[in-house]
Amino acid sequence: MVKDTTTADWWRESVVYQIYVPSFADADGDGIGDLRGIAGRLGHVARLGADAVWLTPFYPSPWADAGYDVADYRDVDPRHGTLDDFRELLARAHGLGLRVIIDVVPNHVSDRHPWFQEALASPPGSAARDRFVFRDGRGENGELPPADWQSKFGGPAWTRVPDGQWYMHIFAAEQPDLNWDNGDVWADFEKTLRFWLDLGVDGFRIDVAHGLRKDLTPPLRDTHGGDTAPLNAPPEGDDHPFWDRDEVHEVYRAWRKITDSYDPPRVTVAEAGVSAHRLPLYTRPDELHQAFNFFYLRCPWDACAFREVVDTSLAEARAVGTLPTWVLSNHDVMRHVTRYALPAGVDHRAWLTAGGRDPEPDTAAGELRARSAALLTLALPGTSYLYQGEELGLPEVADLPEEALRDPMWERTGHRVRGRDGCRVPMPWTREGPSYGFGPGEAAWLPQPAGWGGRSVAAQEGRPGSFLELYREALRLRREALGDVSFTWLPARGGELAFRKGAGLVCRVNFGADPLPLPAGERVLLASGPLTPDGALPSDTAVWLAPGASGAS
Ligand code: GLC
Repeated sequence: MVKDTTTADWWRESVVYQIYVPSFADADGDGIGDLRGIAGRLGHVARLGADAVWLTPFYPSPWADAGYDVADYRDVDPRHGTLDDFRELLARAHGLGLRVIIDVVPNHVSDRHPWFQEALASPPGSAARDRFVFRDGRGENGELPPADWQSKFGGPAWTRVPDGQWYMHIFAAEQPDLNWDNGDVWADFEKTLRFWLDLGVDGFRIDVAHGLRKDLTPPLRDTHGGDTAPLNAPPEGDDHPFWDRDEVHEVYRAWRKITDSYDPPRVTVAEAGVSAHRLPLYTRPDELHQAFNFFYLRCPWDACAFREVVDTSLAEARAVGTLPTWVLSNHDVMRHVTRYALPAGVDHRAWLTAGGRDPEPDTAAGELRARSAALLTLALPGTSYLYQGEELGLPEVADLPEEALRDPMWERTGHRVRGRDGCRVPMPWTREGPSYGFGPGEAAWLPQPAGWGGRSVAAQEGRPGSFLELYREALRLRREALGDVSFTWLPARGGELAFRKGAGLVCRVNFGADPLPLPAGERVLLASGPLTPDGALPSDTAVWLAPGASGAS
């Protein structure tokens, strides 16, 4: 069925499927995902019942950070295809009723971007350097970085150039930060947004949306921060020299005017690692439309913790007249099947770096919980962002050989943080065959583990009770409950979360150890796993019920 694509506010209660471009589907057989591969597999996304796809960067890039180091914002990297391939993908997606959101990376460019090359070739104080953050160093001969700022990927956020100045990079040294006090930067991003909007994209995901503006008043302030906090952890305090500054909102007010000037208006979603009370500022009515809910993603498998995050998210979003987003996984975090398989309190990154075996993950529990989390998430009012492969229940690949690791974090932290490769392993489409249907080449850019084909789309298709069929059915039923965004907690027993969404859907999740009898008068629509023989809800299981109807005992 082709869905209606004309409604301007389609995004309020939608399901957006994240495609991590290097790892979705590879048409040309070089082991790296590409646009033609994606176009050929969009049927899977439409069949799943998503409303839109978000494509991670596919722009020309030397790949210091797998494409988040952009050398040209208005073209396609040859490893991913051509602009014509993009046009074709867009047409195919729209034909299937899927909208297309693309990534825009405004905080930093690649060190191979012509602007940075020009800056390197220009003297200190030049206009070319002013597009970046170049400063003299501290110390007698400027031999120390201009401030103690640390890169999110480990080590100092400053690198020295041959003439003695230093430039700032919140991420890898190959990702110099732009100076958003410079008019050229504003003008060029406006051009980039319009370029893709004119081609017909439906919106943008804004990378590191909270980092663009910096307090560069001399002398630069030290932050006294470490270098290995999780990627989207909020900064400490509300006055940080480069995170979440008030001035950043000027950028989004200007961008909103641009996206609103298209018919229908296009949408934007922020990746902003900020505090819960600052996040709604990004989604005020004249700014961005949505922001990822990393509080929900980081929530441990615990009823009270989820309840608190849901309450805060709904309240904060409603205060600015919108609805929250919900997200469990993305290309930057350990996959949630594995997160939920680990005992509470385990530091995921440390566990991964230590080899991913101590303690041994309880994968069966992780899978049960991930299935329950899917029903919990998809019942909440707002937009759900799904990460490719979660509909297959893919776990983190925790045992990638060291020589296969590509994330710059691994080297930059001196092997203290293993990085994000384990959640980026290419998708399995078929049970057998070269790279399990990912592409015609023998090897994928990140090695797929033995047995990966057992979790493939082909292996799960039509199999009752598979992850894939659970997601498909949940998305189908969810569609029927759209429109009424009222939300009420229902009285819950110990270890249970229970709520009503709209008039027609009750969701109950059993986080506790003992089975919970289901209330009389509620009819089961969908369960994340089998109920007990007498119809009770087992531990780590969730159920959707139709209120008021008879049938359950
Ligand atoms: C965002 C991206 C991440 C990338 C970083 C730097 O957090 O999601 O993958 O490494 O920005 O661009």
